[in-house]
Amino acid sequence: MVNRKVLTLDEFTIREMRAFPKATGELAGLLRDIGLAAKRVNVEVNKAGLVDILGETGDVNVQGEEVKLLDVFANDQFTRVLRHGISCAGIASEELDDFVIFDNEISRNSKYICMYDPLDGSSNIDVNVSIGTIFSVYRRVTETGTPVTKKDFLQAGNRQVAAGYIIYGSSTILVYATKRGVNGFTLDQSIGEFCLSHPNIKCPENGKMYSVNHGNYYSFSEEIKKYIECCQRKNKTNGGPYTQRYIGSMVSDVHRNLIRGGIFLYPGTKEKPKGKLRLLYECNPLAYMIEAAGGKATDGTQRILDKVPTELHERTPFFIGSLKMMEELEGYLLKVES
Ligand code: AHG
Ligand code: MN
Ligand code: MN
Repeated sequence: MVNRKVLTLDEFTIREMRAFPKATGELAGLLRDIGLAAKRVNVEVNKAGLVDILGETGDVNVQGEEVKLLDVFANDQFTRVLRHGISCAGIASEELDDFVIFDNEISRNSKYICMYDPLDGSSNIDVNVSIGTIFSVYRRVTETGTPVTKKDFLQAGNRQVAAGYIIYGSSTILVYATKRGVNGFTLDQSIGEFCLSHPNIKCPENGKMYSVNHGNYYSFSEEIKKYIECCQRKNKTNGGPYTQRYIGSMVSDVHRNLIRGGIFLYPGTKEKPKGKLRLLYECNPLAYMIEAAGGKATDGTQRILDKVPTELHERTPFFIGSLKMMEELEGYLLKVES
């Protein structure tokens, strides 16, 4: 028997958008397209061990990292679905040097652009560990009817209209945020639909988990080292010692911390002051989501969402998590303005 209390992604999004009298349905259409691409990627992720898709292409992406075949597949799926949809005027992706203009009649007249990391945590593909897709949606700043330009992509994160991720894990979940809140939809494989499973997600104010690559410890600043020591100490005020969890797929680490409470750190190091993570399609969407859920995200000196980007692939140090844990971290960094 069909349980009519469960809303599908489409039903939920259309309901949400109806709350805005001027809504055209374009954003709902865009989210539906993202859900469709995610389902296609999910199928391939699940059979990754069985077919040739597993393994490396041998190519190096614009970040100088080895590209896995599934990254390329995921990038193609998202780009194709959005190109053929009716809601997106152009995209930028971790896997592509430059942004892509969708220069056909319908796309040119669309008001949104989308940016994504098609597969986050790709070094985990070959070892059956959760990976994901991270996406970010902006209203374009150039006129509809004209091709998009770089200006449409170099907007501060606080101008996002929606952001989200999909995790291909023990189950597949799509979580997205708008200014109305954060909601999660688990893929019901039997009907091929994302169904509302985590309504109105709030990030716990406090948590017990911290996520950081300890291998980089000796390259961290003294402030970060001190904070990590604080996480490891018994401490009556913060309930420490905390538990260390680091998956190596940020999207999965941040998802766990969003649901359970926790903090994720990818600081800059002496060798790489801007760290590793990319502002536009990794940090901004997650920062938007955590804030919509009551948490916080900074680069150590300023709010992530207020950073004005100058390059598509720019990197930033990244600290994100439960409000109280972020405040505790800021006590060590001292420099943070809020
Ligand atoms: P991607 O697979 O898109 O390149 O991103 C991997 C990122 C992030 O998901 C993860 O937390 C981090 O890189 C891991 O980096 P380290 O191995 O340096 O810790
Ligand atoms: Mn990534
Ligand atoms: Mn990636």
